[in-house]
Amino acid sequence: MIYKSPLSLLEGFIFAHMRIDVVSILPQLMQSWFADSIMKRAIDKSLVEIHFHDPRDYTKDKHKKVDDYQFGGGAGMVMMVEPLALLLDELKAKRKYDAIIYMTPDGIPFKQQIANRFSQFENIAIVCGHYKGIDQRIRDHYITHEISIGDYVLSGGELAAAVVSDAIIRLIPGVLNDGTSALTDSFQDGLLAPPVYTRPAEYNGWKVPEILTSGNLKGIDDWRHQQAVERTKQRRPDILGDE
Ligand code: ADE
Repeated sequence: MIYKSPLSLLEGFIFAHMRIDVVSILPQLMQSWFADSIMKRAIDKSLVEIHFHDPRDYTKDKHKKVDDYQFGGGAGMVMMVEPLALLLDELKAKRKYDAIIYMTPDGIPFKQQIANRFSQFENIAIVCGHYKGIDQRIRDHYITHEISIGDYVLSGGELAAAVVSDAIIRLIPGVLNDGTSALTDSFQDGLLAPPVYTRPAEYNGWKVPEILTSGNLKGIDDWRHQQAVERTKQRRPDILGDE
């Protein structure tokens, strides 16, 4: 039986299938994230496949070196052009990529809207940098999107690639059990999510807001919206109205 999630019914298509190719010298840093929970389920259901590729397998250096000193001097090594070029050439010869993403703190800030767009892609490659980053010629000739997950520097792109992959994969129809729940996430409508509660309705004298147990659906919707607006005004006035 083909199970269609409410979201996929809404958009009129059966499950999309996505392939993500991750280029990394330390794939084990990322692999554990996909070995459990929602990500594992997405892979088990064949909604997404993730493949890891190590630039060390493409170096002609007998010591498997993939980095070198930067021209012009300065501290820090740079990932060399050739291993990455050979690897990406091989990937590109096999399929057409909708995006070849480079994870870098000087990229554009990753946002929910970008995740939404990427979740509709079929083939994505993500390049993880290390040390001082990758040779600029790879960025110039292969990379289509440069993405940062925040204004701080991580020791490698793997953690950032896992963040981006997770945010994309959970949006693929069929990945979340309740297909509509991704639509009510924070940021989806330019608002943070409202507070949520579960049983018991009273704990330690702390009561759940009465409206939520009233059965008044319209009232609940209005309350949630008003809470979301309030929270966003207080915490993230910069995103108010983003869509
Ligand atoms: N690599 C190192 N730091 C990063 C960041 N903040 N975002 C994306 N990739 C990175």
